[in-house]
Amino acid sequence: MIVIALYNLKGGVGKTASCVNLSYLAAKDGYKTLLWDIDPQGATSFYFKAKPKTHPSIKKLISKDADLEAAVLATDYEHLDLIPADNSAKSFDIMVNEMQGNKNRLKNILKQFEGEYDFVFIDCPPGFSALSENIFNAADIVLMPVIPTTLSVRTYNMVKDYFKEKSLDVAKLMCFFTMTDLRKNMHHEIMTQLFKDKRFFGNYIPYLSDVEKMGIHKMPIEAFAKSSYAAQCYAALWTEITEGVLE
Ligand SMILES: Nc1ncnc2c1ncn2[C@@H]1O[C@H](COP(=O)(O)OP(=O)(O)OP(=O)(O)O)[C@@H](O)[C@H]1O
Ligand SMILES: [Mg+2]
Repeated sequence: MIVIALYNLKGGVGKTASCVNLSYLAAKDGYKTLLWDIDPQGATSFYFKAKPKTHPSIKKLISKDADLEAAVLATDYEHLDLIPADNSAKSFDIMVNEMQGNKNRLKNILKQFEGEYDFVFIDCPPGFSALSENIFNAADIVLMPVIPTTLSVRTYNMVKDYFKEKSLDVAKLMCFFTMTDLRKNMHHEIMTQLFKDKRFFGNYIPYLSDVEKMGIHKMPIEAFAKSSYAAQCYAALWTEITEGVLE
């Protein structure tokens, strides 16, 4: 079971859009895939038309006798299951408190799925917290979408520093560019500079309106625009990720 957490300290960089599309592609390849929407914003759950309130709350998930199975919903797509978000602030506080002082709590919770799923994707909220530290420990890959702007480079360096400070394995941190616009010199220059880091996948996701249209269709891109450029970009990125991970 490979755990991939879509994370960035920075908000609004395409974590959710990427989590939805990459988990869909994993399932389409026949891998048994679980997607955990751990962000109380519930955007991933929205894209899969799941209602956050209709499943056992996060409280139940993290209790001693955690009933994870009961929290898992099937999606409209074969091989793809979902743990929808619990969007109550109270539940989120309880979860973060639970993880305070135990950096392996999430890792232990996920152990229950070992053998059942090939991939677990986690859609993370932005920021640093006890939850993010737990996510970094539980994940095999912390997959970080980065918009090639100066502020994003700054947060990228902050995340690397955080990994060092907490003695986390920085090799887990893998990145790709999102919302790129190569007509902009700055995007071009920053990408050229960061590609030297060897932490970035060669494939990237340009700024494309089909990605935004996921909100209208409430579907992964391939499900409503199979031959679009956006679908091709995500497919190429997914192939590159699997080549790096499954070899
Ligand atoms: N490649 C792209 N091209 C155009 N729009 C995009 C692209 N990727 C994401 N978006 C849009 O940008 C917005 C933010 O994307 P998304 O919700 O995936 O980011 P996020 O990192 O999950 O945000 P948050 O930190 O709030 O969870 C959304 O409206 C989404 O449709
Ligand atoms: Mg998000």
